[in-house]
Amino acid sequence: MNSHDFTYLANVLRRRTGIVLSEKKTHMVETRLMPVVRRFGFRDLCSLLKELHYGHEALVQAVIESMTTNDSAFFRDRKTFEEFRDIVLPALKDARSETKQLHIWCAACAAGQEPYSIAMILDDAKLVDEGWTITLIATDINSQMIARAEDGVYSQFEVQRGLPIRRLVSNFQQEGTHWRISDYIRRMVTFRTFNLLDSYGWLPDCDVVFCRNVLMYFDLKTRASGRRLSLVQ
Ligand SMILES: C[S@@+](CC[C@H](N)C(=O)[O-])C[C@H]1O[C@@H](n2cnc3c(N)ncnc32)[C@H](O)[C@@H]1O
Repeated sequence: MNSHDFTYLANVLRRRTGIVLSEKKTHMVETRLMPVVRRFGFRDLCSLLKELHYGHEALVQAVIESMTTNDSAFFRDRKTFEEFRDIVLPALKDARSETKQLHIWCAACAAGQEPYSIAMILDDAKLVDEGWTITLIATDINSQMIARAEDGVYSQFEVQRGLPIRRLVSNFQQEGTHWRISDYIRRMVTFRTFNLLDSYGWLPDCDVVFCRNVLMYFDLKTRASGRRLSLVQ
């Protein structure tokens, strides 16, 4: 990929998603684009990049999705979840005791490990048994990640990263070499494809927002800019 093509691609990505690509990552970018080349039947990367100029939405979306880094884990950075359980949730139980309603948003949920970790903590807290209504919304720009998250099936490697064995046994069923999250926990989360740079009009006012390990991919201007992102910092 020449420097001109790289700059064009980087500009499309930054404008559409906030994600910044460093030219040092050219090789990684090429590797990630190859499945898109094959999926759309292009001869080579050069033909894909030429076509990208026409802005066909399905192709642009596929290129964007190939550029996202979707690494995640159950209970990633355990302390965050302990603080949610021990400090945030008790405070909210007091503050919202009249309405008994909670709205929680997980803003860049990748394949669902983060919202399902939140759901397991909420399940432990037995709030629903006490008459609470909890809305747990999880979004990501990457529609393939959202489809995976909705499916709720994880490899042995994925469940070994951060998930205590007692939770694996009580909240998952084994399916061959994989593990499926229980229907009960899965139904606690509403998933939706959503770009953090788009309008937040559809989102209810949220009591808690988890927005982790995503803003670091954005340039400083996007991180700091406007009302849209100040909502989630
Ligand atoms: C490294 S993962 C973090 C997942 C999870 N929050 C965690 O901490 O484990 C970053 C996620 O941000 C998503 N993402 C990147 N840019 C986005 C944007 N503009 N809008 C919404 N999601 C975005 C990616 O698709 C990816 O799944």
